[in-house]
Amino acid sequence: MIVLAFVALIAVLALLDFINVNWGWKGDWRWPFLRDLVTTLREFDRFHDYAYETLDKFKMDHVTWKLGFYDVLVVTNPEDVKHLLKDNWKNYVVAQGLRGDALEDLLGNGIFHADGHHWFVQRKHASREFSANIFRTFMTLEFVEQTNKLASLIRRQEGNVIDLHGLFFRLTLDAFGKIAFGLEFGGLDGNPIPFAAAFDRAQELSAQRIAQKPPFWWKMQRLLRVPGGEGEMRQCLTVINQFVTKLVADRRKAPELASKEDLLSKLMMASEADKEIDPNERDRYLRDMTINFIIAGRDTTACALSWFFYEMTKNPQVEKKLVEELDLVLEGKPISFDTLAECQYLTACLSETLRLHPSVPFNPKTAVEADVFPCGARIAKGSSVAYLPYCMGRMKSIWGEDAQEFRPERWLSGENGSFVREDQCKFTAFQAGPRVCLGLDMAMLEMKVVVGTILPQFTFELLEEPHYRVGLVLQMRDGLKLRVRNRKKQS
Ligand code: HEM
Repeated sequence: MIVLAFVALIAVLALLDFINVNWGWKGDWRWPFLRDLVTTLREFDRFHDYAYETLDKFKMDHVTWKLGFYDVLVVTNPEDVKHLLKDNWKNYVVAQGLRGDALEDLLGNGIFHADGHHWFVQRKHASREFSANIFRTFMTLEFVEQTNKLASLIRRQEGNVIDLHGLFFRLTLDAFGKIAFGLEFGGLDGNPIPFAAAFDRAQELSAQRIAQKPPFWWKMQRLLRVPGGEGEMRQCLTVINQFVTKLVADRRKAPELASKEDLLSKLMMASEADKEIDPNERDRYLRDMTINFIIAGRDTTACALSWFFYEMTKNPQVEKKLVEELDLVLEGKPISFDTLAECQYLTACLSETLRLHPSVPFNPKTAVEADVFPCGARIAKGSSVAYLPYCMGRMKSIWGEDAQEFRPERWLSGENGSFVREDQCKFTAFQAGPRVCLGLDMAMLEMKVVVGTILPQFTFELLEEPHYRVGLVLQMRDGLKLRVRNRKKQS
């Protein structure tokens, strides 16, 4: 009897599934549970493409999906994104629900994972530092120095195969380590960095918690210290926490804190002066800030640079045009903030890269109160909603018939073909609204320094199509394997 009831249930679910897939339902889409669970688990490794293909196939701009073990309303219409990120942004928080639990161990109360007062204080301190001109000059010098190091390293590998993705992670960590913490990681010198390995693995395991395990299951495993996933997570967190605790303690001992230019010193000074931060919580606050800023400053930019060089190998006409621009603008001049600002085509190519390969491909939040989106979709109190930069960047309804093409010219609609920024609710790579990325200008500067230095010197031949790894950022699973040659010797 039980078996029969079970078979009948499966048959009904399969029928609903069939109806939904073949004819679709109007109104608030709800993907059947069975299909959701099976497909999101089966399609996990290519989740972003699966999401795009499904929305495209059924001409949907929103749907409620079971992602892993959470119900998530996904929205892709810029109007709905505006509602989420700007008009009613206070209703959508990050430290609860889908990402709240799973990321807390790693991100703590850091800016990516904080709401309300905790978020406000960090945003206030960090914004001050990001807008300071002195910091900007200091940053450019650091980026140039680290990129020159990378260029010499690549030069030594001429004719050989390199993993540019891995090198970009080393470059951005070295540059960010210096700018943010006054630290020499020496990644480009080949130094092993256990902290970085633990950090990568902890991010991967956090993403698996969200998409592949029921919450009660991983929480129980964490409680019981079960070896494997959660046991490994614990080990990674120990390495990360030891590293960051030492970093903060060493800096605290430094007598010349006030004269230091790096972000950590400035944040420490600001946090000491801020009466709103509980003195007993200061070290914890600095630990969380540091970890969040490393993810922000290292991973996002390294991913974007990797996908940019990938696109150059696939689009030789674009590459040629870009090299011509760089030769024309930069020839005989040192790379600087101002010279790079003249490179309109470069800005367009980087934006086009981030449209198709946004470093943060999927971005969930949780509703504090029930709400209705402009498209009519309803969300219950405590439920999750996500906007999908990866899908949005590829949708014809947003970018036109050539949405899948890498075409930087789409960004050059200004006077004399100058670059025009898109509405951030349409081009969502940097988020939008009060929580828009704080490092947008810094990231663009770093990427421009890297491209302006590396591309005119070298050509790259793609040996293997890269594939992303589903995680917090759009990392390449097996790196980016390229054969490198000297551009000048070739022409
Ligand atoms: C290509 C590079 C980058 C991309 C695509 C990018 C994208 C983003 C996105 C999508 C968010 C929202 C994340 C969320 O909702 O949790 C964000 C937030 C943030 N980004 Fe970036 N980012 C980049 C580089 C940087 C850099 C270099 C920094 C400098 C440290 C930075 C600092 C931040 C900070 C502090 C936030 C949190 C803002 C807040 O919640 O108030 N980002 N970024």
